[in-house]
Amino acid sequence: MNLQYPKMSNNSLLTRRRALRLGLATLTCMGAYAQGKSIARGQQAQTLEDSEREFTVVGEASLKERAAAKGLIYGGAGGFEELLDESYADAVKRECDILVVGNELKWDKIHPSQDKFDFEEGDWLVEFARDRGMLFRGHTLVWHQAVPDWLKNTIDSQNAEQLMVNHIREVAGHYAGKMHSWDVVNEALDDGEFRKTLWLDNIGPEYIDIAFRAAHEADSQAMLVYNEIGIEHDAKQREGVLKLLEELKAKGTPVHALGIQGHIWAVGYPNNVNYEELRQFLSEVASLGLKILITEMDVIDSGTPAGIETRDRLIATIYEDFLSVALDEPAVTAVLTWGLSDRYTWINSHFPRSDGLPSRPLPLDEQMNRKLAWKAMARAFDSAPSRSADCNQHCKNSVKLAGKKN
Ligand code: G3I
Repeated sequence: MNLQYPKMSNNSLLTRRRALRLGLATLTCMGAYAQGKSIARGQQAQTLEDSEREFTVVGEASLKERAAAKGLIYGGAGGFEELLDESYADAVKRECDILVVGNELKWDKIHPSQDKFDFEEGDWLVEFARDRGMLFRGHTLVWHQAVPDWLKNTIDSQNAEQLMVNHIREVAGHYAGKMHSWDVVNEALDDGEFRKTLWLDNIGPEYIDIAFRAAHEADSQAMLVYNEIGIEHDAKQREGVLKLLEELKAKGTPVHALGIQGHIWAVGYPNNVNYEELRQFLSEVASLGLKILITEMDVIDSGTPAGIETRDRLIATIYEDFLSVALDEPAVTAVLTWGLSDRYTWINSHFPRSDGLPSRPLPLDEQMNRKLAWKAMARAFDSAPSRSADCNQHCKNSVKLAGKKN
């Protein structure tokens, strides 16, 4: 099943109407909730059963503290305007050890015209993170969206590689030594095949290898990540990603990790996620010597019932189920949510609920209070296996970057 791309596109992916029809299917099993335990190896997600999950959490430790206790990093997305909101900035500082920015480092913001780079907001965000001892990850150097008009009007098969490499050198070079990691290439595949983008059309599939080599040349310390959407729901996407990563590793491309975005659809859950196949996929990616980051997790609740308690319980169930499986894989080293509070989520503008109610996709509510989703994440971190103490170069770099004591 193709995941509905979190930006309505005109390809064969799920349409909003079909997603809502799926929502009706969800209603039939919305009466209760899966058992309160992580999904054991060999098990599928339980169909939603009558017993209500308790989501009991011990203590008040933050998500970053619970993650760090297991050698994991937890963080979230924030934007320039959002982090000017003191209550949000305080919540980010309390809960997050790493910050990723949703839009400020994308082409349309940081490279507004061919000869102009605007690092002002990016620099402010990097300093925001460093001032609070947080790590910082860059998103994203090469993508088919957030493309400024000047690039669309200029690019051709003669200049495309130079335009892309120059952008990467300027941006990754500007932040060299400050980045935990970069999403070098984002969403190059669609349903397991190369996505038809201006990069593929003008350079060919080798644009991916070229981009990673340029990024490594510009910042040899940063962990370089291939970031992808739809892995959670789409078997063909998983196959395509695995094939691409095998090919990149075989040609010596400096790719260090896979980013699994983690935009999970509540509509259709638990039948839209195959946890046994996901476990297998994670293990195969790890066998390539790659780390794995969950880079943009949230739960899209469009098409689910209006009641807050019902919705929050379903969303929390999904967080705990998904993370309990993902964190069983030792190669998974970080989890980031795409935001931290429901006050700031892309979902309200991109997938507004038909009943007009605000979405509730994230660990904190609009008043920065911890929700069931927060408890679900806390439980997943608390029950995750500890990561081995072996700290590879990227891990050492993270420790140094955050000014943390060894
Ligand atoms: O900043 C302008 C503002 O000045 C203008 O008034 C307003 C009205 O058009 O647009 C604002 O820019 C918007 C920007 O978000 C900031 O809010 C863009 O139009 C809008 O397209 C952009 O959407 C972002 C989207 O990526 C496309 O870049 C979402 O916030 C962001 O959450 C979303 O994130 C993506 C990841 O990068 C990749 N993975 C999927 C994820 C969800 O689609």
